[in-house]
Amino acid sequence: MKKLFLIGKSLKHSISPFIHNRILSEFEIDAIYSNLELSDTEELKEFVEMVKKDKDVVGFNITIPYKEDILKFCDEVSEDVRIIKAANTVKKEDGKLLAYNTDWIGFKKSLEDRGVDVKDKKILVLGSGGAAKACIYGLYRMGAKEVFVANRTYEKAERLKEVLQDILKILPIEWLRRYEFKYDIIINTTSVGMFPNIENNPFDFEIYEQSPPVFVYDMIYNPLKTAFLKEAEKRGIKTENGLKMLVYQAVEAEKIWFGDIDIVSNLIAEILNQCERKVAQFE
Ligand SMILES: NC(=O)c1ccc[n+]([C@@H]2O[C@H](COP(=O)([O-])OP(=O)(O)OC[C@H]3O[C@@H](n4cnc5c(N)ncnc54)[C@H](OP(=O)(O)O)[C@@H]3O)[C@@H](O)[C@H]2O)c1
Repeated sequence: MKKLFLIGKSLKHSISPFIHNRILSEFEIDAIYSNLELSDTEELKEFVEMVKKDKDVVGFNITIPYKEDILKFCDEVSEDVRIIKAANTVKKEDGKLLAYNTDWIGFKKSLEDRGVDVKDKKILVLGSGGAAKACIYGLYRMGAKEVFVANRTYEKAERLKEVLQDILKILPIEWLRRYEFKYDIIINTTSVGMFPNIENNPFDFEIYEQSPPVFVYDMIYNPLKTAFLKEAEKRGIKTENGLKMLVYQAVEAEKIWFGDIDIVSNLIAEILNQCERKVAQFE
């Protein structure tokens, strides 16, 4: 039996094994996907050595905090990874490790499903971690011309300019308290509001009461409705959580590992539905 893994630090509530194993069973692929917690980069190194030796390992996904560290161990990176400088998917081919990023594709597809057009929109991204990089790259690929970024640590946001300098404007976080700015779309890529700290909200909608955004997106999917999304909904703003992105990035990873398998929209809808129920159980 072939093996696939998700590696990261806190994977207790991860629903990735459910998503991947459901796809594997649908296509009768003799493989199993499991979570593997790694406590530091030394364990990451040992994991990579194991992957290289074990002929049954096809590839793996990477989550917080190893999306950048993994690049040190990869033999080749895709064009997207070269720009984003973070990978969430690795495939083993002829003993070599090839790095990909499917997060940005998952993000882009989830926006397209909602019919959100980002061209000529004023977009604010909250946060500057790995998720922000995938988000900004996805926005760029969708044709966004101007993306404003605000992060608790200003210097980290400044570093995002290494990813896509042309479309980025970095704001000091205090500027979010200045009502004269107006954004059409606001995207939360911080972990603020994630389980168990579900009362926390990274954005104060009250300041923008006179000029609210038309659409807000939270990359968090646990809980399904964060405080950020609840506050937006109260004001009649359209919202989207990060669950679809999670499912779509997994679908893209499966295609990288097993060729262009035809994962139809009915299966995706069924997986989404079951994921929603699973996440609701944690809440
Ligand atoms: N839906 C999906 O498929 C998907 C994919 C990837 C990630 N995500 C979600 O996206 C979120 C971020 O992931 P990541 O990989 O970008 O993590 P990360 O690299 O650790 O970045 C975390 C970000 O959150 C900010 N932050 C953390 N705690 C904060 C606080 N108390 N106040 C203000 N800002 C705070 C950090 O600011 P500093 O720079 O100041 O530390 C940083 O910008 C997580 O909730 C993750 O689950 C979802």
